[in-house]
Amino acid sequence: DWIMGNYVDEAVARIREQVGDEEVILGLSGGVDSSVAAALIHRAIGDQLTCVFVDHGLLRLNEGQMVMDMFAGRLHAKVVHVQAQAQFLGHLQGVTDPEQKRKIIGREFVEVFQAEAAKLKAAGTGAKGAKWLAQGTIYPDVVESGGTASKKATIKSHHNVGGLPATLGLKLLEPLRELFKDEVRELGVALGLPHDMVYRHPFPGPGLGVRILGEVKPEFAALLQRADAIFIDELRAAIDPATGKSWYDLTSQAFVVFVPVKSVGVMGDGRTYEHVVALRAVQTSDFMTADWAELPYSLLKKVSSRIINEVRGINRVTYDVSSKPPATIEWE
Ligand code: XMP
Repeated sequence: DWIMGNYVDEAVARIREQVGDEEVILGLSGGVDSSVAAALIHRAIGDQLTCVFVDHGLLRLNEGQMVMDMFAGRLHAKVVHVQAQAQFLGHLQGVTDPEQKRKIIGREFVEVFQAEAAKLKAAGTGAKGAKWLAQGTIYPDVVESGGTASKKATIKSHHNVGGLPATLGLKLLEPLRELFKDEVRELGVALGLPHDMVYRHPFPGPGLGVRILGEVKPEFAALLQRADAIFIDELRAAIDPATGKSWYDLTSQAFVVFVPVKSVGVMGDGRTYEHVVALRAVQTSDFMTADWAELPYSLLKKVSSRIINEVRGINRVTYDVSSKPPATIEWE
């Protein structure tokens, strides 16, 4: 709408004034905030922006490709796609403790990003080095780091792209600092980002690393990605007649959890002995408390039969009926 259109012009002017002819680096995660920040800054300064997309191998199915198609392909932004899958999975080998897994993923993330940023700082992509680090910090993040976040951090150590330490000697550019989440989404739409990208459920920084219980193995990640994609597809396709909305839009977050336990099943004349997954879908306004979603049985039935038939290696699907508290939304 026009109010947002004006806002875009003002924000673009402000970024141009702040940055001048200097170069900017931004950590792109595929999430809403960093995507909108990237699109806005790119609108303002084009090729003076270089996005760094660290692919830790724990993203959703085809996500790396989707991020590249959107930003490098459609927006023609400069994006460095860092293929760090082997490095992350290598460091996670043999590690089963959830907190330790989170710490390793967070630490590696910072390390990989800083190495790329240091290269761009030294040389940039032009003659001069980068001078700015852009982040998709939004207003609630600003408020949270003022105090209330510490309590949450003791439950689970959080990791996200916005949390990079400012040890790079770069100036901080945070164009979304004054916006609430719904305003960030509107801005994203005004900048031409696809509705589905802007209205996505949140995805944790450690990604599938906290949705594969215990040790993260590449073969588990591959099974989980496929099962999760089926669940999300079916949630998007299932329309609730009472509201006319899809079950994807009626839930705040939904995903599949890989349970590294085997159970017996039967397929044709044979016995199977394969892995279990749990479907998780919640409704919440603030993610501090959450109710499990009362998904229609017909939807659960379809998702279950598709996962078991299409993803060889999974022979049992369960539904998580735990609310937060006492359960958390993620399983780790
Ligand atoms: P829990 O599991 O604590 O999750 O109920 C609450 C919300 O936070 C998300 N989450 C994270 N987001 N980095 C993030 O950016 C993280 O390390 C992280 N851990 C959990 C979770 O997906 C849910 O939306």
